[in-house]
Amino acid sequence: MANNVNYLRLSITDRCNLRCFYCIPGGKWEKLPATEILRYEEMLHLARVAVAQGLRKIRVTGGEPLVRRGVVDFIHGLHQVPGLQEVCLTTNGVLLGDLAPALYAAGLRHLNLSLDTMKRARYRELTGSDNFQEVRASLEKAASLGFSPIKINCVVLKDLNDGELWDFVRLARERPFQVRFIEFMPAVDRGKWTRHFLPMAEVRRRLAGLGPGEPVAPAADAGPARIFRFPGFLGELGFISTISEHHCHACNRLRLTAAGYLRPCLFGAEALDLKGPLRRGATDAALGEIFQEARRRKVAVRDDFLPGWSMVSIGG
Ligand code: 5AD
Ligand code: SF4
Repeated sequence: MANNVNYLRLSITDRCNLRCFYCIPGGKWEKLPATEILRYEEMLHLARVAVAQGLRKIRVTGGEPLVRRGVVDFIHGLHQVPGLQEVCLTTNGVLLGDLAPALYAAGLRHLNLSLDTMKRARYRELTGSDNFQEVRASLEKAASLGFSPIKINCVVLKDLNDGELWDFVRLARERPFQVRFIEFMPAVDRGKWTRHFLPMAEVRRRLAGLGPGEPVAPAADAGPARIFRFPGFLGELGFISTISEHHCHACNRLRLTAAGYLRPCLFGAEALDLKGPLRRGATDAALGEIFQEARRRKVAVRDDFLPGWSMVSIGG
């Protein structure tokens, strides 16, 4: 039972402008009607309640959060929530080039960018869209504006992008980014997962030539990432074994979906309704109790993955 729950992942939309191979079930998913999605002021209200319950960090996710109109003002609003220590954004980067200056002005500094390949043709295969150049450019633009830390999420897929491990290592050597290799989670369909899952131990074995590296002490709320520094590198490398070394007891996060459901665990079906009580005028104390309930319902061990479970509607 995790008592140190201090991190909320907040999905602000279930829409996305990409169709990533590992995320979208069959290329399609049921989109929520607009009225079912929390309004920004509702999310800010829930953020204040979450902070009152001890949460300290909020990561804004989607779908793709930058496709939702008004996201810059919302991020600015989150920075005004008293007691919230850290606001982060996870984005696929397609719209980041245009929005980066305004996001920076809104107070944002922490960015996670999804990038699974350094090759334009493969990017098109993996995401269904030809935005590789824009994403690379937006990454450099964000770095030059001063965003820091910038973390790059690379989901490793056997026989798809696992020939590029050393290209990602080079990126971490030459640029001040934390490049994180992430295990493919079985979100889409089991067949795809069985064909393309590569355990993190195998990634580490293939990169053994790097030497052991110097472990970076994880921040208290860093989650399952193992981070290392290597001599001569401007950046760092991270290894995230969500599947092969899943440690529920170390999990410090809750997830709030765009539809206003609080999910204690990514791998569980359970979701507590916050939107209903919020819209019926529940007190902050009553809403806070729902956060406490979610915290209590975090489970000990989960090895069953929900069929049809899809990252795009949960926010990763
Ligand atoms: N396996 C691992 N990571 C995933 N993400 C989405 N779907 C999956 C999956 N099946 C993560 C990616 C992306 C973020 C938005 O969600 O790391 O960067
Ligand atoms: Fe890709 Fe993220 Fe969009 Fe899923 S939500 S399709 S991982 S960009």
